Amino acid sequence: MKLDITQALIGQEKVNALMGKVEQAQEALEKGTCAGNDFLGWLHLPSSITPEFIAEIQAVADTLRKECDTVIVAGIGGSYLGARAIIEALANSFQWLTNKGENPDVLFAGNNIGEDYLYELTEYLKGRKFGVINISKSGTTTETALAFRLLKKQCEEQRGKEVAKKVIVAITDAKRGAARTCADKEGYKSFIIPDNVGGRFSVLTPVGLLPIAVAGFDITALVKGAQDMEKQTALGVPFEENPAARYAAVRNALYQEGKKIEIVANYQPKLHYIGEWWKQLYGESEGKDHKGIFTAAVDLTTDLHSMGQWIQDGERSIFETVISVAKPEHTLFFPSDEENLDGLNFLAGKRVDEVNKMAELGTQLAHVDGGVPNLRIELERLDEYNLGQLIYFFEKACGISGLVLGVNPFNQPGVEAYKKNMFALLGKPGYEAETEAIRKRLA
Ligand code: PA5
Repeated sequence: MKLDITQALIGQEKVNALMGKVEQAQEALEKGTCAGNDFLGWLHLPSSITPEFIAEIQAVADTLRKECDTVIVAGIGGSYLGARAIIEALANSFQWLTNKGENPDVLFAGNNIGEDYLYELTEYLKGRKFGVINISKSGTTTETALAFRLLKKQCEEQRGKEVAKKVIVAITDAKRGAARTCADKEGYKSFIIPDNVGGRFSVLTPVGLLPIAVAGFDITALVKGAQDMEKQTALGVPFEENPAARYAAVRNALYQEGKKIEIVANYQPKLHYIGEWWKQLYGESEGKDHKGIFTAAVDLTTDLHSMGQWIQDGERSIFETVISVAKPEHTLFFPSDEENLDGLNFLAGKRVDEVNKMAELGTQLAHVDGGVPNLRIELERLDEYNLGQLIYFFEKACGISGLVLGVNPFNQPGVEAYKKNMFALLGKPGYEAETEAIRKRLA
């Protein structure tokens, strides 16, 4: 993985001015003296994962792969986005049509309360040999718990209680929460989300690893990539050689210059959910105390025909971070056409990726000309190893960046506000005072 900041449109002196703060942030992370220091379990997570632990996860994944044609991952936020990001980045874009039963379909639920979504899912699952991975650290998240209640009932009815016990797996807290109580009572296989790893930093725990293994991908290689990035971003690695430190410094320097929005852009549709995962990681970690870069994501070139206008020409408060993949997995050449009715013979014999790369370069030049600072992350290829590197790189940089910004990157107090109102509106026991206050407000 390479990080290029040469087009960041920010003086080196402004980046260098933050080097001291970046170093302090790294030290505070390492020594556990920073804000949110009870949530630093992710920091040395890759190097602490043993082959035995991977084998335990793989064994459970193999059971689900053997017993199920479809596995539903129920979870939201950090209990969902990492797994989806990696699976979609690695899977055949049309896998639902073409996997021919080699791998179970991995579908996602518990990340919304759409009645049609849940109805259509339950309809789709009729007659399917499905299993469920129920993921919730707190074990009480409404979206996930609702979906799980429906899926558990359907799985037991369709497959029988005994099989359901084999194909429902819980990933939750060691002791607390309804998901733990249910798993223990029903005798489900379960994995623990460590107390000191927050949801959005949990992709390298069973939260991400189990669904990824179920989908048929190599979790050993994913973890190896993360382990190597852990070394590459360790305290003591010189600033110029530490991509996480450099990324954290540049984005803070740009923020100080009034760049309040960061857009992550990809040129491979498979990376759409990496953008979603990144948006949550940085948005939820930094957006607090009335500070923080607003995180957005675009799929290019698709969104050049929608958001491209704004990026090129709108308010100059943005910068762009491009995730580029050097080598696609497949080769496809544009054919020559005798009639050349579409006028595209000048591309005949060229690879599709060559055209994509020229679109990427052309866009970068245009955006830089338009005053949009451009950072570029290059992955050699889209495989488990490179994605493992990317995941840990973004996590490490996020921890450093949030501390440089002066917030606690590991909490999310703002998320509670909507829950309180929703519970009050739904008449949840214990919320009577809030219900009354809302009733008066809406009267
Ligand atoms: O990053 C976070 O902490 C959140 O996004 C959580 O992952 C999300 O709210 C889901 O929480 P839980 O796993 O407790 O259901």
